[in-house]
Amino acid sequence: MDRRTGSTGDAAAAKPAAANLPVTVREIRAGDAAAALRVCIAAWEKGPGGLLPASARAPMADGAPIAAILRDAPERMLVADVGGHVLGVVASESGDEQLTDLWVEPRAWGRGLGSQLLTAFEQAAAARGCKRVTLETLIGNDRAVAFFRRRGYRLVERFTTRDRDLHMMIEKLRLEKRLA
Ligand SMILES: CC(C)(COP(=O)(O)OP(=O)(O)OC[C@H]1O[C@@H](n2cnc3c(N)ncnc32)[C@H](O)[C@@H]1OP(=O)(O)O)[C@@H](O)C(=O)NCCC(=O)NCCS
Repeated sequence: MDRRTGSTGDAAAAKPAAANLPVTVREIRAGDAAAALRVCIAAWEKGPGGLLPASARAPMADGAPIAAILRDAPERMLVADVGGHVLGVVASESGDEQLTDLWVEPRAWGRGLGSQLLTAFEQAAAARGCKRVTLETLIGNDRAVAFFRRRGYRLVERFTTRDRDLHMMIEKLRLEKRLA
């Protein structure tokens, strides 16, 4: 696999499914790993990755976080399955209140997949006793910040940190939503 693009050469699998197919949000399975990785990398490049130098590697580019979740705690990652194609991913890599990943295949943006994944994540977090959901994103990722704000998230902090995945200093926002 190309570590930078996540491409496996499986172009057919990368095509978003037709818009009218039903969406199922479900736990990730072993056979989903390559498709989930493609979604993460495509959404990174179209979204927050576009705010960083071209040399900045996508956080999941080597697939290690997905492999770890599949091995240790698949319930921490949900996928949006549209007609058998994985087109979105949401996860708490830490298994707690932190939403660490929300990625939708860019050609499927605006079809409600992100909203369905976020709702499913919040319901799962509430079911395991979390009182809130928190997340971090890059300053400048305005479309995603607006998306979260419209879904009840508020800004709690701006901070600068050395990102452990990107290996560079970046400015971030922390948002949170209290669960009912
Ligand atoms: C943020 C993200 C998950 C939203 O996913 P999505 O499937 O497009 O979400 P939905 O279709 O449920 O809602 C999209 C909203 O953005 C709006 N929107 C604005 N520009 C858009 C665009 N170019 N394409 C699609 N939707 C767009 C839609 O109208 C909709 O508005 P609403 O909030 O008033 O309902 C997706 O854009 C993404 O993967 N972004 C890159 C990764 C990222 O930044 N993740 C979050 C931080 S970790």
